[in-house]
Amino acid sequence: MKLPQAIIYFSSSSLISFLFYGLGILCLTSATVSVSYGGNETDYLALLSFKSMIAQDPNKVLTSWNHSFHFCNWSGISCGEQHKRVTVLRLYSKGLEGSLSPHVGNLSFLRELSLWNNSFQGTIPHELGRLSRLRILYLDENKFSGVIPTNLSGCSKLEVLSLAQNNLAGNIPKEMSLLSKLTRTIPHELGRLSRLRILYLDENKFSGVIPTNLSGCSKLEVLSLAQNNLAGNIPKEMSLLSKLTSLNPLGGSIPDTLGLWKSLTAFYCGECNLYGSIPHFIFNLSLLATFSLAGNHLTGSLPSQIGNQLPNLEWLQLRDNELTGVLPPSFSNCSKLRFLEMSHNNFSGKLTIDFSKLRDIKSVMLQYNNFHGRGEADDMRFIDSLKNCTRLVYLGLSNCNLIGVLPISIGNLSDQLSSLVLGDNQLFGNLPSSVGSLVGLTYLDLQSNRFKGKIPTTIGKLQKLQRLGLNSNQFSEPIPDAIGNLSLLIELYLQSNKLEGHIPSSLGNCKELNVLNFADNRLSGEIPSQLLQLPSLTILLNLSQNNLSGSIPSEIKDLRMLSGLDLSYNNLSGTITSSLGECISLTVLNLSGNQFQGIIPSSLSSLRGLQVLDISQNYLSGKIPQFLDKWNSLEFLNLSFNDFEGEVPVVGVFGNASLFSVLGNNRLCGGLVTLELPKCNDNGSKKKKFPFFLLFILIAQTLLVVLC
Ligand SMILES: *[C@@H]1O[C@H](CO)[C@@H](O)[C@H](O)[C@H]1NC(C)=O
Ligand SMILES: *[C@@H]1O[C@H](CO)[C@@H](O)[C@H](O)[C@H]1NC(C)=O
Ligand SMILES: *[C@@H]1O[C@H](CO)[C@@H](O)[C@H](O)[C@H]1NC(C)=O
Ligand SMILES: *[C@@H]1O[C@H](CO)[C@@H](O)[C@H](O)[C@H]1NC(C)=O
Ligand SMILES: *[C@@H]1O[C@H](CO)[C@@H](O)[C@H](O)[C@H]1NC(C)=O
Ligand SMILES: *[C@@H]1O[C@H](CO)[C@@H](O)[C@H](O)[C@H]1NC(C)=O
Ligand SMILES: *[C@@H]1O[C@H](CO)[C@@H](O)[C@H](O)[C@H]1NC(C)=O
Ligand SMILES: *[C@@H]1O[C@H](CO)[C@@H](O)[C@H](O)[C@H]1NC(C)=O
Ligand SMILES: *[C@@H]1O[C@H](CO)[C@@H](O)[C@H](O)[C@H]1NC(C)=O
Ligand SMILES: *[C@@H]1O[C@H](CO)[C@@H](O)[C@H](O)[C@H]1NC(C)=O
Ligand SMILES: *[C@@H]1O[C@H](CO)[C@@H](O)[C@H](O)[C@H]1NC(C)=O
Ligand SMILES: *[C@@H]1O[C@H](CO)[C@@H](O)[C@H](O)[C@H]1NC(C)=O
Repeated sequence: MKLPQAIIYFSSSSLISFLFYGLGILCLTSATVSVSYGGNETDYLALLSFKSMIAQDPNKVLTSWNHSFHFCNWSGISCGEQHKRVTVLRLYSKGLEGSLSPHVGNLSFLRELSLWNNSFQGTIPHELGRLSRLRILYLDENKFSGVIPTNLSGCSKLEVLSLAQNNLAGNIPKEMSLLSKLTRTIPHELGRLSRLRILYLDENKFSGVIPTNLSGCSKLEVLSLAQNNLAGNIPKEMSLLSKLTSLNPLGGSIPDTLGLWKSLTAFYCGECNLYGSIPHFIFNLSLLATFSLAGNHLTGSLPSQIGNQLPNLEWLQLRDNELTGVLPPSFSNCSKLRFLEMSHNNFSGKLTIDFSKLRDIKSVMLQYNNFHGRGEADDMRFIDSLKNCTRLVYLGLSNCNLIGVLPISIGNLSDQLSSLVLGDNQLFGNLPSSVGSLVGLTYLDLQSNRFKGKIPTTIGKLQKLQRLGLNSNQFSEPIPDAIGNLSLLIELYLQSNKLEGHIPSSLGNCKELNVLNFADNRLSGEIPSQLLQLPSLTILLNLSQNNLSGSIPSEIKDLRMLSGLDLSYNNLSGTITSSLGECISLTVLNLSGNQFQGIIPSSLSSLRGLQVLDISQNYLSGKIPQFLDKWNSLEFLNLSFNDFEGEVPVVGVFGNASLFSVLGNNRLCGGLVTLELPKCNDNGSKKKKFPFFLLFILIAQTLLVVLC
């Protein structure tokens, strides 16, 4: 390729300007004429080579890269004012597909190369190491594979290096993958990048240790190695190996020299398959604001002074590890803390953090730990200290073995609080009515505790509530009518309590309900028809194991999208309403353990998606409808303990004895031999062949006994 021949120099003369204008028009009309305004052939050729290796350019950003313009005016290119050398090549999020030309290494004045969020594949050319003026290199969110070229260390002025979210395991042949992964370490040469401030290597497939001389990057502010998960796509043999040799970039294999990173403000090493304890030098990095080691296998405890050593912490994410010991009370001094994510660990001991200085805290995620104090019943005292945390949005403490009462001060938590998750503990006593002050709540989970007494009517003030779980407690008395004020409710779980009285018809206002579960209570009265006029009920309506009476209201036909309906073990009576046949989305229908009588309505033939149908333990009669053996999706059919008569089919679900039961129906005949039912006569109806000879023998024996 040759440099464009027509070179025009600028002049202040208006005449020449005019000429230039004319020429410009000429250029536009005759595409054969090319223009350049000085600059460097090498840069020009490098850019042409870059373009030639782009296979797809859906947004046509490279059409401007043509001879009508000097390359300094091509889209995504910036040049130095005087020397007209390319200093910036910035084409991120352009949907580009192809590979990266090694010629880019010739753009010797380049300071920024930003190609993130495209689909570049192939290797990262080692020629990039020649870019001695490069300060910013963003190649993240592409499909690069292979290794980081070691001579990237030649980019001695590099301040920002981001190779995150590439697909380094991508195109490697299977036989190769073991080898290639072993060699795919982070090159220690990166340690020469003494000006590096930001290093993103997350979401790759690096293995091995963090090179010790990465400590040479003494200006490092942000280091992200997150999601370089050895366990990911690696063959089993390999992941075992990695555990044996403990490829733990933070464990014993990393020297405390990394404590020289005094400038570090952000450290992400989540989901890196790390073992061992957190090296203590990290707690000396007093500027650290963002610190994540989530989702590793880290053990050991936190230093008691962590909160005083890391006073700048804003985001601490150690969730999903195996950390033990107490959550140090020194966290009370981390006044900048916004996110405290310690869930799914083995922390223990009473929670003694005083949150009152943590004015900015937004999210406290502590679920799945063991915060029970020694035999005390006031594990919830810390709630008082959350009063002044006016930005609190999330408080998660489920599965923490908390024992105690919920203090009235729960109502003084932030009105921003959106999720209060205290399920699966041992909280007891009444639910304080102050809970109604938490008007920001969208999610309230108090399930599986030992709360008793009335559900406070103030619950009706939580107008933003979408999910409410009060199930598996000992709540008694009627469900407050005010529950119907929760018009945004999507999921409502009250099952397994001791609730009494009628089901409030006000629930008809909850037009968004998908799931309603009131099973296993002491509810009585009829099923309010308003409850059935909620087409939003798509997932589950479970009223089983109560004392409900009356028949199924015909409004049930409105539940056309409902998947699961369980009304079992109540005192429901009458015939099964034929409008049930309009609930055509049902996959599970359980009406067992009631007092239904009459026949199975033929309208039920439209419930073709049913997988489980249980109508056992009622007083149903008539013949087994023919449509039952034609439903292909049926996985279990229970007709037992009713009064059905006639022939049991042998096809469909009736062809496999483990998929159905007709026990306790004394007037059935036929069916599979294993049922041991009497044969049917020709017209199919049951004809009981009474064993007269047995009766005869019995009478004879009796006579004999009497006579003797
Ligand atoms: C272009 O740049 C290269 C490398 O920097 C240099 O060797 C060459 O002399 C330059 N050419 C011109 C015309 O400036
Ligand atoms: C050159 O780029 C300009 C600007 O994008 C465009 O309008 C023109 O059509 C291009 N010319 C050719 C020959 O592609
Ligand atoms: C780029 O285009 C602008 C006008 O759009 C022009 O003023 C400038 O001189 C051009 N630069 C080069 C290097 O051609
Ligand atoms: C990535 O680029 C695509 C266009 O190719 C764009 O739609 C998308 O929003 C970009 N993603 C990010 C995170 O910027
Ligand atoms: C630019 O780089 C390529 C590949 O690295 C090389 O082949 C070429 O000779 C270099 N120089 C010029 C002037 O294009
Ligand atoms: C980069 O290193 C490789 C060996 O790893 C070497 O072959 C190559 O010449 C080097 N390239 C540059 C531009 O330094
Ligand atoms: C980094 O450490 C390796 C040994 O682990 C050594 O060979 C290399 O010279 C060191 N490089 C720098 C830049 O310190
Ligand atoms: C932390 O810093 C103190 C004082 O600066 C020093 O004495 C101690 O050795 C350091 N600890 C670690 C683990 O680096
Ligand atoms: C919080 O900081 C103060 C002042 O530095 C100190 O006196 C106190 O002991 C610290 N509290 C905790 C719990 O570490
Ligand atoms: C975490 O605690 C549970 C229950 O207390 C225990 O079974 C488990 O062994 C503990 N794990 C570790 C790593 O300490
Ligand atoms: C909470 O804030 C109030 C005023 O905003 C202040 O008087 C009180 O001392 C604070 N409480 C705590 C425990 O910091
Ligand atoms: C706590 O809430 C109660 C009402 O539930 C209110 O009377 C009291 O003033 C609140 N206290 C604080 C400190 O906000």
